[in-house]
This record gives sequence, structure tokens and C-alpha cells, in this order.
Amino acid sequence: MPKTWVVAGKIQDFEEGKGKEVKVQGQAIAIFRIDQKFYGIENACYHQGSPLHDGDVKDCVVTCPAHSWKFRLESGECTRDDSIVMRTYSVKAENDDVLILI
Ligand code: FES
Repeated sequence: MPKTWVVAGKIQDFEEGKGKEVKVQGQAIAIFRIDQKFYGIENACYHQGSPLHDGDVKDCVVTCPAHSWKFRLESGECTRDDSIVMRTYSVKAENDDVLILI
């Protein structure tokens, strides 16, 4: 099925430097707003499935709150083992909306 841009929320609902969980088409996705850019990553940590949206972000790397595994928001790669790759999503802002490609 071809991917389409779907509204995930309003820009003002996403706090700078933080993540937020959205559910789009039945998928839980953590969207992070970092330096006015948006990043989407599946919201179930590769390690044991904990949500990532409350994780701290530094240099575009999110730290899982559960056991501190780290994932690059742009690629989904785990910093401890780059053969582990989480699913990421393209996210953009348009007018007042945040859109995700899904
Ligand atoms: S569940 Fe994320 S590091 Fe363990």
C-alpha cells in the first residue's frame, strides 16, 4: 500500500526538546520535536518494549527510560549495536499540523 501523509496532531501540542506518543493507524509512534524538526520512531523499545516518548534526547539520540539503551532518531539505529534498527517515520510540519508518512 502506498504511504500517505497523515495528521498526527497540532504543532503546538509538541513541546520543543520532548517526545509525545501518537497513535496513527493503530501504530504507537513517538514523535520528538528537536530544534524545530520532527522525528518519528516506533514507540516500543527494541530491548523490552518500553515506550520511548518520555526518554531524554541529546544530539538527536533518545535514551530509553527503562534501561538506557540509546537510539538515533534519524536512523533508528541503536548506539550500542548498529545492526539493531528501530522503525522510523518521516514527520513534517505544515501550516499548524504535524504530519507523518505512514
Ligand atoms: S526496554 Fe528500553 S532499554 Fe530496556
